[in-house]
This record gives sequence, C-alpha cells and structure tokens, in this order.
Amino acid sequence: MAKTRTSYVCQACGAVTQRWQGRCDACGEWNMIIEEAGDSGIGARAVPSRRKGRIFALTGLGEKEHVPPPRLLTGMSELDRVTGGGFVPGSVLLLGGEPGIGKSTLLIQACAALANAGHRVAYISGEEAVAQVRLRAERLGLGGSAVELASETGVEDIVATLGEGRKPALVVIDSIQTMWSDAIEAAPGTVSQVRGSAQTLIRFAKTLGAVVILVGHVTKDGQIAGPRVVEHMVDAVISFEGESGRAFRILRAVKNRFGPTDEIGVFEMTGRGLAEVANPSALFLSGRDAATPGAAVFAGMEGTRPLLVEIQALVAPSSLGTPRRAVVGWDTSRLAMIVAVLEAHANVRLGQYDLYLNVAGGLRINEPAADLAAAAALVSSLSGVSLPVDRVFFGEIALSGAVRPVAHALARLREAAKLGFSSAVLPPSAQEKAEGTKPREKKPVQEAAPSGLTLTPCGHIGAIVGAILKESRNSEKSTPKSSAPR
Ligand code: TYD
Ligand code: MG
Repeated sequence: MAKTRTSYVCQACGAVTQRWQGRCDACGEWNMIIEEAGDSGIGARAVPSRRKGRIFALTGLGEKEHVPPPRLLTGMSELDRVTGGGFVPGSVLLLGGEPGIGKSTLLIQACAALANAGHRVAYISGEEAVAQVRLRAERLGLGGSAVELASETGVEDIVATLGEGRKPALVVIDSIQTMWSDAIEAAPGTVSQVRGSAQTLIRFAKTLGAVVILVGHVTKDGQIAGPRVVEHMVDAVISFEGESGRAFRILRAVKNRFGPTDEIGVFEMTGRGLAEVANPSALFLSGRDAATPGAAVFAGMEGTRPLLVEIQALVAPSSLGTPRRAVVGWDTSRLAMIVAVLEAHANVRLGQYDLYLNVAGGLRINEPAADLAAAAALVSSLSGVSLPVDRVFFGEIALSGAVRPVAHALARLREAAKLGFSSAVLPPSAQEKAEGTKPREKKPVQEAAPSGLTLTPCGHIGAIVGAILKESRNSEKSTPKSSAPR
C-alpha cells in the first residue's frame, strides 16, 4: 500500500517542495509554505485509475450543428462591457479584489438583475449568514428579487443541491477561499482546497451550462491562500479595484477567453450600492483646481472608450545622492525613458531633481500614448509654468524624441470636446487618418475633429518644451528655475 504522503505547498504561488522552508524558492515569499496532507499541488502524482477510458465523440470545428446559447446580459452596462458583452453560459469567472472593495455588493446586484429577468440565480455565501445577505439586499432595494440564497461551504453539497430542479443560469460562490471539498484532505482555505473546490465547481458549470462566478479575496501582500492558483483554470479573471477613501471602483478584465481584456467598468459606491458611472472622464477630472504647474490632462483610451485623466508631476530639488523617482499609476521604466529623452533631445536637466508622477484618481495607465502628457507635466512642474486647463495631450514619444501617432485620435478628440476642452496637442500624423471610417473614406483628423477644438500637432519633444517655455515668457508670471532649458 502506498505510504500517505505529505507535501509542503506555498500558499502564495502553489509551488510544492519536499520539506519545509522559510522562504519559497519559486516566488520568494516568506512564511507561506505549509504542510498539506496528501500528495497535492502542482506536480502531484496522479492516482492510478482502475477504470478503462470511455470513448467519446469528437466534433469538427466547422460543424455547426450546435448553436451556442446567447450570452447573459445583466443590464448593468459597465459590468456587461467588462465581460465582453455578457456572461457566456458554461463559463467560470473569478472576481478578485481586496476585502471590503464591494465584490459581494456588485454580485448581489448582478444576481438580482438576472433574477428579475426570469433566470434561476443562486447566491451561495460562505462568509455571511443568509440573514446578513438578505439585509444587504434589502438595503440595496433588492429585497423583492427571486435570488436563491444559501450559506454553505461544502462544494459537493452545493453542486448536488443546484443540480436539482431548474437549471441555474448564474451561481455566485462568495468566496472560493471558504469552500472545501470532502475529496481533499487539506484544511479549508489552503491552496489544495481552493484548487480542488474550484475544479469541482468548474466541472459543474461546464456540464450544466451555468455561469459560475467565484469570488476571491486578494490582499496587497498576498497573505491569504491566493486565488492566483485558480486563475489559469477559469475562463475569465476580473479584478475589482479602488482606493480606500475614494468612492469609485474600477472593474477590469485581466483575462477573458470570450472578450477583450482592455475594457474597464467604472462604478461609484453610494449609500444604495454600486452605481454605474456612464461618463468616467467627468469623474476623473472632477475636483481639478485652476491651472497649477505640473498638471496635464491626458486623452486616453480604455478599450473602446475614451477616458480623460489628469497626470500630475512634481519636480523638486533632491537632497539625495540618487534622486527619488516615484510613480503611481504608471510605469517606472517609462518615466525613466521620458526623462532620458527630455535630457537628450530637449535639453531639460532633471538629473538633480526628485520626480513624482501620479495618475489622478487612482487609475492605472498602460498606454504609451500618455508619454506626451507625462512629459508636459514634468516640464510644467520643473519650469513652474501652468499648462492651460482646457488643453489635452496625447502621443507616444520615441527614443529619438519624435512624437509618434497613436490609435483612436478622433475618439480622444471627441471626448475632449464633449468635456469642454478647447485645445489638443497631438502627434502630427494623427492628422492623416480618421478612426471609425473605411480605408477609402480616410479624412484628416483636422477635418473630422470637433469644430471647437484647436489642434496643435507636435512632431518632436523639443517643440512642446519650447512652446511651454514660450508661454511662460509671454505671461511673465513665473520665472523658470535655474536648470530649465532655454
Ligand atoms: P462588500 O460588498 O461587502 O465588499 P467585499 O465583498 O468585496 O468584501 O462591500 C463592503 C463595503 O461597501 C463596506 O465597507 C460598506 C460599503 N457599502 C456601501 O458603501 N454602500 C452599500 O450600499 C453597501 C451594500 C456597502
Ligand atoms: Mg464579501
């Protein structure tokens, strides 16, 4: 008879070692390895099966005898956008986020919306009692909806119960960390249990064609047995983010087998739950003071939607040998590149200064198109010259100092005009093609752009630096600091 084995599993990354270690070799985390009974984890020995394999039928890719069922739309457009146009029946989603961010609130709202549309919807909470969930739903004004509630943690029981009666369209499991399976010896909450329970629930979703949403708590330092190990098993990973102390929340697809991953959904936490924010630009720009040096508005895109956001820079003389470079919401290496390009091609000396760059409102920008706005904010802070409040920037900066065109120029300009901006600094060749038109109907952006907007094409980083400094000389309000370029 085989000896009962124990393995040591890292609760942060799921790596398995043969003996206990203080630090995981795979991910470098400390105090994350715990002993788990049974041969578990990645690399576990498969239990030999006595059963002979079953013969199943294969279908050709081109055969269309099976029409996929329509996607499930919640009617919450911000949520539907992030899922890529509704939930795909039979798919499993992982909704990750820090505790208290509003995952349960979002899901009970989505459940109620689908239940009201006549679907069978079940919300299984492993954390709260049924009364608590009911109380929350009542506070959200959803008390009358037909969502089926239960407070359960055994996955076998959940699967057996929901397999009875009418097929559920949506099952929410809140949260996967509280679930446990009889088949696994490890304690609830461990990586083995999380992975095993997820596997059972995924099989349930696929066989029944129900949508299963798994909630997963992630802490900033990854202290809880991570839903990370579940990420590769599910069809979509959606993260719910937000800053403590700020009311808005961003829903973002990190992985999606059935849709794009660059869409975001914006919500605001109100006294009556999460409200959709249809015009996020207005939200991210609200509370902007009058012109201050170091602030530039970036006309960005999140997926298919334009989004204006303020980029703030602070350039301050450094007392350190190696000046500090701190970035929030942007990429540190991207900042280093912009600084190098400004030094090399625009004669802007930033070497002796601490640099701080912040994307307002807690948003995270991944687009290279933000380069121009970041550069403008840096030069503005260094020289003490405020940029006009009604101006937007976009464009990618090449290492040569050239400003390169970016996609969706027209959509960015339209959004800027809609929000009352009157001028835009953009890459020169953005003028040659207009987005949203057929190749034959290409129009210069200049022609297609909203009439209220003055466009300033900028081909080189030196030109924008020169323009900002010229404005300072014209206004004579403030004198550039010593190392500002001429
Ligand atoms: P919750 O959905 O329980 O978070 P999670 O499931 O991600 O842990 O949300 C908890 C927070 O949301 C809590 O701090 C209170 C706040 N909240 C509101 O501000 N308004 C509301 O209507 C609700 C239901 C919650
Ligand atoms: Mg919760």
